[in-house]
Amino acid sequence: MAKATHSGAALADGLVLDIHDLSIQFGGLKAVEALSFHVKEQEIFGLIGPNGAGKTTAFNCITQFYHPDRGQVVFRARDGRVLDLVGLPVHDIIRLGLVRTFQNVEVIKELTLIDNVLIGAHTDFKATILEQALRLPRARREEREMRAKAVRALEFMGIAHLKDAPAGGQPYGVLKKVEMARTLMAQPKLIILDEPAAGLNDSETAELAETIRRMRDEYRCTILLVEHDMRLVMNICDRICAISFGQFLACGTPGEIQGNKLVQEAYLGEEEPE
Ligand SMILES: Nc1ncnc2c1ncn2[C@@H]1O[C@H](COP(=O)(O)OP(=O)(O)OP(=O)(O)O)[C@@H](O)[C@H]1O
Ligand SMILES: [Mg+2]
Repeated sequence: MAKATHSGAALADGLVLDIHDLSIQFGGLKAVEALSFHVKEQEIFGLIGPNGAGKTTAFNCITQFYHPDRGQVVFRARDGRVLDLVGLPVHDIIRLGLVRTFQNVEVIKELTLIDNVLIGAHTDFKATILEQALRLPRARREEREMRAKAVRALEFMGIAHLKDAPAGGQPYGVLKKVEMARTLMAQPKLIILDEPAAGLNDSETAELAETIRRMRDEYRCTILLVEHDMRLVMNICDRICAISFGQFLACGTPGEIQGNKLVQEAYLGEEEPE
């Protein structure tokens, strides 16, 4: 049953995200065109498609890094509110419980791993800048709590022993874990992962699959991921949406997507789904 809200957006029970008619052009290029799909609460949902299909662009339109030309992105926030995200500032999106990692890992090399994770918590600090600058009690207490939370996030990712090491010089697999730990700081409701397995070897990818499942189960959140590693996608996703040239091809279970003719054709000449 649909539930109306103050913003006028509605979302069927059991859904966390409903994308409708999402469209964006760059010059004449329709990077995402009339894309619609929905994601259920606590599922692991995959968005797949050949290189340049518009997957990252779709993520950027959902998280408001890009403002779509058209369409709605209806989201059930961590406080239960249902609202259309289109036009909201990025920091509001994070506060609502929608967090992401980037296709190109984004860490600050000069900072330690724990400080990189703490960046994910800055929207949750209640102390004012002045209280923080003067290191007043509330600011000190908050900082202690946030550090403890960051250590837990690093422990969850299995890299707490590296917390005080600078990010610069760490292997790529570690930096990806730092980015994922950062998403756990924001009381995530929906975590968007853009190619989490890129650059990882087989055993790291197998570990990642387990980590993604644990994130979903222990943090009780939903995972939306883009991934080219078809074995990973087919292994961990409850449902998958396939797109090509910015357009919807099919949505279904891994088995349905593997057997879909349109999807198979889109991948011809590329890597084929196994
Ligand atoms: N900021 C931008 N300005 C102009 N064109 C862009 C921009 N971002 C993406 N594009 C174009 O939009 C199309 C979709 O790109 P996008 O990065 O979303 O694809 P993708 O599915 O994520 O590909 P990949 O699998 O290679 O990461 C491509 O043709 C790309 O060149
Ligand atoms: Mg991409």
